[in-house]
Amino acid sequence: MQVRTVSTTPFQDQKPGTSGLRKRVAAFRQAHYLENFVQSIFDTIGVPPHATLVLGGDGRYYNREAIQIILRMAAANGFRRVLAGQGGILSTPAASCVIRKYQTHGGIILSASHNPGGPDGDFGIKYNAANGGPAPEKITEAIYAQSKKIAHYRIADAPDVVLDRPGDYEIGGMTVTVIDPVSDYAGLMESLFDFAAIRTLLAGGFRIRFDAMHAVTGPYAQEIFLNRLGASADSLMNAVPLPDFGGGHPDPNLTYAHELVELLYGGDAPDFGAASDGDGDRNMILGKHFFVNPSDSLAILAANAHLVPGYAQGLAGIARSMPTSAAADRVAEALGIPCYETPTGWKFFGNLMDAGKVTLCGEESFGTGSDHVREKDGLWAVLFWLNIIAARRQPVETIVREHWARFGRNFYSRHDYEGIPLDAASGVMKLLLGSFAQLQGAQFGNLKVKLCDDFSYTDPVDGSVSTGQGVRILFTGGSRIVFRLSGTGTEGATLRVYLEAFEPDVSKHHLDAQQALAPLITIALQISGLRKRTGREKPTVIT
Ligand code: G1P
Ligand code: ZN
Repeated sequence: MQVRTVSTTPFQDQKPGTSGLRKRVAAFRQAHYLENFVQSIFDTIGVPPHATLVLGGDGRYYNREAIQIILRMAAANGFRRVLAGQGGILSTPAASCVIRKYQTHGGIILSASHNPGGPDGDFGIKYNAANGGPAPEKITEAIYAQSKKIAHYRIADAPDVVLDRPGDYEIGGMTVTVIDPVSDYAGLMESLFDFAAIRTLLAGGFRIRFDAMHAVTGPYAQEIFLNRLGASADSLMNAVPLPDFGGGHPDPNLTYAHELVELLYGGDAPDFGAASDGDGDRNMILGKHFFVNPSDSLAILAANAHLVPGYAQGLAGIARSMPTSAAADRVAEALGIPCYETPTGWKFFGNLMDAGKVTLCGEESFGTGSDHVREKDGLWAVLFWLNIIAARRQPVETIVREHWARFGRNFYSRHDYEGIPLDAASGVMKLLLGSFAQLQGAQFGNLKVKLCDDFSYTDPVDGSVSTGQGVRILFTGGSRIVFRLSGTGTEGATLRVYLEAFEPDVSKHHLDAQQALAPLITIALQISGLRKRTGREKPTVIT
């Protein structure tokens, strides 16, 4: 094998964000850009003898080219084997599943998740460690440090590997094992859920509609819902993955999955609707004319986990990201199990799951998952819901309303201001950080500020500390406003405002969330000076 050592100069902007390095496709296509980052990963993690790497992506534009480059670099850096998804495809949760099942030296996932794709869209790359989870900050920081001083990378001179059929192929002395991206994952799902009960539910006329948003979950949904659960063909929509996601924004929320939302809110609506994102780790759950808030979804899965075979033995604990509503905390309390509050990003759940401290995890950003893998998992959440419905034989809306009646309702919403100038966004955050003294104890109508801080987290497993994780304004009575800057965008800044109010009174549970949160929204705008600084009258996206 001919291995070349190529001289290179560092790029200064390869700092991984909330979930890996995300940039425009054009940035990744600059000479040496991808190579520098991949070599920085390999230099940081080291490559032990006989090591195997998992490799796959969400199929977005540039996926195939990137896979070939990484294969040549893996060969040159001493990997013995790469397990690659057929066609270079693996959903994020499937990649996590494969890393764990075959006990590999981690994996590289190519995805920019829910960001749009195509030549003018986004691309992304991240390293997941041997536990199957996103590399913790310690490692991502080391990769970043390495990327700033890199001087050369190693790459094999070899032709492209044909990835279109499962089997073993050689490249520069390394074996590339092309695997069916779906089968290991589908097998894992079948081991967790009562497929027979779900099959019976579907055969009995319960109609579902799953929107793959032209992203990675299409083939997974086909195998699981159609082949294994007997759902009718019209249960799937946008199930053919496309490199540009059909020009859409593959983010399963009320704004971007509007095609599905219109169906579920229309006449003759199906009983259940769900969607997943670009790389298959997010989920949105809908009932007939009904939206399930993701924070509620986590709480409801936890409260009903005893109905699901894979979780019937009980939950060790629950974890949620700080901005996620406290609905899950109430369930944890009722179950007598701990609930952890972590910074935003799935990488913070890994240690807790590895240590056996939590079973279920979730984020308000349409992410739910468990310790079956170390990523959030869109189809897993859909199957969990279907399993609960099959066991309870109630509509989605009834399940949610009964949950609120028992635990109280945490009204919740997130307002995103996307693509605002960086200085306007940091100006808002600075203003807030500088107002803690005035805000502390302040009274706004009948809401009184109990505490404000800049959230920081000490990992209970390894003691690592993460600071600057979002400004929290906590009110007496459980209401909250959180301000945070996104760490996944590629252009300008995205300011997220998270709003939550707890309502124990059932007679108020029918209220619309925006209506119930109106006083908090007013306070948020008032204390942040957001409109003036950003020039925005309204959020870009409300979830
Ligand atoms: C967003 C979500 C966060 C999620 C991440 C990756 O990150 O808010 O919960 O873990 O995407 O899917 P953000 O853009 O807020 O940094
Ligand atoms: Zn995603």
